[in-house]
Amino acid sequence: MPSGYQATQIYHQLPSTKLSYSVSVEHLDSESLLPQPITLVPKRGMPHCPGHPMVGGVPPSLLKGPNMADNNKTRILSFSSPWLSTVLVASAPNVAIDNAIVMNLSTRPANYEAGLYRGSIAPFHSKSLRECMVIGAEQVLICETQQRENLGGLLREWTWYGEKDSNFDRRTPLYVSPQEEIGEVEFNPGEVFGLAHSGTKGLQRFHLKLNLWYAPAFTDCGIHCEHTFLEVHTQLIGTGRMQKFRENSSNTLFEDLIVPAGSTHPPFFNLKSDGTFDYPWHRYFSDSDCVWMAIEFHPTQGERYEVQS
Ligand SMILES: [Fe+2]
Repeated sequence: MPSGYQATQIYHQLPSTKLSYSVSVEHLDSESLLPQPITLVPKRGMPHCPGHPMVGGVPPSLLKGPNMADNNKTRILSFSSPWLSTVLVASAPNVAIDNAIVMNLSTRPANYEAGLYRGSIAPFHSKSLRECMVIGAEQVLICETQQRENLGGLLREWTWYGEKDSNFDRRTPLYVSPQEEIGEVEFNPGEVFGLAHSGTKGLQRFHLKLNLWYAPAFTDCGIHCEHTFLEVHTQLIGTGRMQKFRENSSNTLFEDLIVPAGSTHPPFFNLKSDGTFDYPWHRYFSDSDCVWMAIEFHPTQGERYEVQS
């Protein structure tokens, strides 16, 4: 990019996505090649332009300069929708957040600044941030509500869960998005999730997968305890609950955890000393119309979270 050039409102639409984004580069310093802040601002209503990923008269070469986002490291996930944008950003020096839920999808804290205040988001946790700068993020997912009108339109975009599970209650309005594979991650789950009593011994490898869920208010999403993976959930729109039960019955509830938008609940799974894991009977319950995200860790060693030596 030429020295002193200031690019603003560069409209960029990635193939096979429904949303377009503008990338603003601010305060380009002709004396410095230091990375500059990257601002990702979802734009509504941009027309789909097959074969023309860049619009607005900006040549693609301008998006590859030393001060620009590396587009190979910025990925709009397939479950982005007109209601909610979800952008995965990896290895970005600075990411300006206007008003979004930021999920840290790395094993190291994601630091951010708000003026003189500094904070961090723990690994596989989330925060709702406004006018902040995320600094040196290893991998974060930026989730921004675009509109709430006709939120139930998501059920026409996604799959009714009963089509995936023939035993699922045929009356339950629970809908699931496509699943995204983010990559492999390696960490000690007992340490990262604060389960010091778990007795886990070292680093374990997982396939990290994400999907979104939608349910209207007061939906019982089904009590279950069978999982082949570790999971936590991040609330994105509305307010929900994660609940634990003594038995497979709503009458046996013993823990009721309210999950407001922006929060990720503590894990419900137990890590056992024999290298396996289990869950209590549990369910998600929507207090309002809700969109939430499942963060799934699928052990690369089958159903064991711990590699045996
Ligand atoms: Fe579950």
